[in-house]
Amino acid sequence: MSQIQQRKDDHLRICLEEEVGTEVSTGLGGFRLEYDALPEIDLEEVDLSVEILGRRLQAPLLIGSMTGGSPWAGEINHRIARVAERLGLGMGLGSQRAMLKDPTLADTFAVRKTAPELPLLLGNIGAVQLGLGVGLPELQQIVQSTEADALFFHLNPLQEAIQPEGDTQFRGLWRKMHEAIQAIGVPCVAKEVGSGISERTAEKLARLPLAGIEASGVGGTSWARVEAYRAPAQSTSAVLGQRLRAFGTPTAESILHCRKHFPTRLVIGSGGIRTGMDIAVALALGADVVALAQPVLQAATQSEDALESFLRELIHELKVLCFCTGASDIAALRKVRLLPIGRHHA
Ligand SMILES: Cc1cc2nc3c(=O)[nH]c(=O)nc-3n(C[C@H](O)[C@H](O)[C@H](O)COP(=O)(O)O)c2cc1C
Repeated sequence: MSQIQQRKDDHLRICLEEEVGTEVSTGLGGFRLEYDALPEIDLEEVDLSVEILGRRLQAPLLIGSMTGGSPWAGEINHRIARVAERLGLGMGLGSQRAMLKDPTLADTFAVRKTAPELPLLLGNIGAVQLGLGVGLPELQQIVQSTEADALFFHLNPLQEAIQPEGDTQFRGLWRKMHEAIQAIGVPCVAKEVGSGISERTAEKLARLPLAGIEASGVGGTSWARVEAYRAPAQSTSAVLGQRLRAFGTPTAESILHCRKHFPTRLVIGSGGIRTGMDIAVALALGADVVALAQPVLQAATQSEDALESFLRELIHELKVLCFCTGASDIAALRKVRLLPIGRHHA
């Protein structure tokens, strides 16, 4: 097995077996949706569907970018895609760098072969790879071979700095992203991987011709921490990955920065989204749609049915929250008032 395949499997195993969260919360729990005891709508009439990047989803939910690049990762990707197709949800692929290095791994990302009706699929590549051998032909290859509708560029300087073999040449990246986004011909979305988008970053990204941005804030999976587990015990990477595991912008704050600087573009709320209430608060803070990664992996490794039940329950929770806030659709939910958590909460 190549180094890159091994790394993909290490990431999956660590995210399933270790504590990869942080002591810092998303901040979403600091808000309370305004409850309405006289909603004057029927639960059954609540419509959760949204249009994202020109595609209709049955609920404002994406499966976060995670994996691909090894046989195990491929199995998980295809399983997730079938469930997302059945529920009418969008899906992000994990970094496709592995298939550029080894084309035999392309099938581990080609989920539309098993889920042709998947309503929205986003490809994924690290932005830093633009300086390291990934040019327009490679970008076109990762989009075309998977029939992706759009492409994520992930930004992960903290993870790369902790990873012993990480790529840390970020100088000049804004300009390279600008050229790539203009040339590629599909909508591009920038994302973090769990350290969030600060005001400073949002400002810079807003000057790129991006279709949208994903918050991926602190409060969920910490990639500094994941890399700490992968590194040899007591090594600098292991120590710093643990020490810096909560560095970054918490999810609630990250969503606010993204919305402020991308007022009319797509904003995906992510990083520690775990419940229907997290989804509802993220939307009311300004996200158009949310993404969940680690909990989806957890359920998907149990079985396809387990993943489907997990997602159906989450979607139903969101529907109940719409009903109890008087929101007959997602546009209305996004306008529900958020109140600061009062003294009655522990
Ligand atoms: C197993 C796993 C692999 C991931 N791989 C990628 C990746 O290849 N590219 C990427 O942009 N983000 C990747 N992520 C980050 C997620 O897309 C997401 O931003 C982050 O995990 C925070 O969401 P969560 O708290 O719901 O897990 C990965 C996450 C997990 C759990």
